[in-house]
Amino acid sequence: MFCHNKAVMPTAFDFLLREIKMQEQIKNTNTLQELQNLYTSVFGKNGTMTARLKTMRDLDNNARAELNRENTTLRELFKTRQAELENAAMMAEMAHEKLDATLNPEPENRGTLHPLTQSLREISEILESFGYERRTGPEIEDDWHNFTALNTPAYHPARDMQDTFFLANGNVMRTQTSAIQIRTMEETGVPVKIFGIGATYRKEMDATHSPMFHQIEGLYIDKNITMTDLIGDVRAFLKRFFNMNDIELRIRPSYFPFTDPSIEIDMKWRGQKWLEIMGAGMVHPNVLRNCNIDPDVYQGFAFGFGWDRLAMLKYNLDDIREFYNSDVRWLRDAGF
Ligand code: PHE
Repeated sequence: MFCHNKAVMPTAFDFLLREIKMQEQIKNTNTLQELQNLYTSVFGKNGTMTARLKTMRDLDNNARAELNRENTTLRELFKTRQAELENAAMMAEMAHEKLDATLNPEPENRGTLHPLTQSLREISEILESFGYERRTGPEIEDDWHNFTALNTPAYHPARDMQDTFFLANGNVMRTQTSAIQIRTMEETGVPVKIFGIGATYRKEMDATHSPMFHQIEGLYIDKNITMTDLIGDVRAFLKRFFNMNDIELRIRPSYFPFTDPSIEIDMKWRGQKWLEIMGAGMVHPNVLRNCNIDPDVYQGFAFGFGWDRLAMLKYNLDDIREFYNSDVRWLRDAGF
């Protein structure tokens, strides 16, 4: 009997015909968007293939197999075309972006340690290897530590040597790291072998003076310490810091209230001129007494120098103020 509600069975030829048409349409898409639209019209919610798959139940075995095969084939064709179009889109983008992998990259701006930090590290390393322990102290000092305990009482004319910044409450901006000597001896007693580091302040400013600069202070007190130990350590230190095999020193008598005898140490620079490097001397008995140390049992030396100045010499700079300008071009040009 002829049955009306049974769909007419599509033949293998019908399938093939549809497939060829579809193949053609897929191939003719030019953009991913076009392909997407076509895909939706076939496999979307209201797509032609979606509709036909719903009739699966009404088909005989052959037609079912054909439909399944067509379904798989079409999906494959879409995938292939998608890959082709994606590739084409990428090539087009690359063509107009023109990436030149042979161009030199932008120079990298690397940070470096500030020359003062670098030199402090070197100085510390050397002094620590000699057995000196590193100490610091406050930059706002009281009169006792900055002057009086250093054998420089209020009436002492040597106070004039240092252009001091006084604070309203009678404290001062530390003028010398020698204050660290006093603090350390008060705190730890003797024997003591330390170096104090830090910023110091004086009212002066030109190419070789800055109102804020840095000092390093050595202090070595024990039972048998002599001037020879002082000069030996200073010589060894300078040789290592400036990387020189030999070094010519000149010892000149000088005056500091807190050392006796007091000396100044000069160094022959590049075989030509004498440069004043540091002040030093045997610690004055009054200073020891002020720290409750018996000068008949203990004695030793102290030395002090400008750490900025040593760095200027080492790095061949002629204006101390450059250190504090924070000009990166200068740092770069100076080769740090
Ligand atoms: N404090 C002295 C100065 O600032 C340097 C110094 C330190 C001299 C230790 C002798 C001993 O000039």
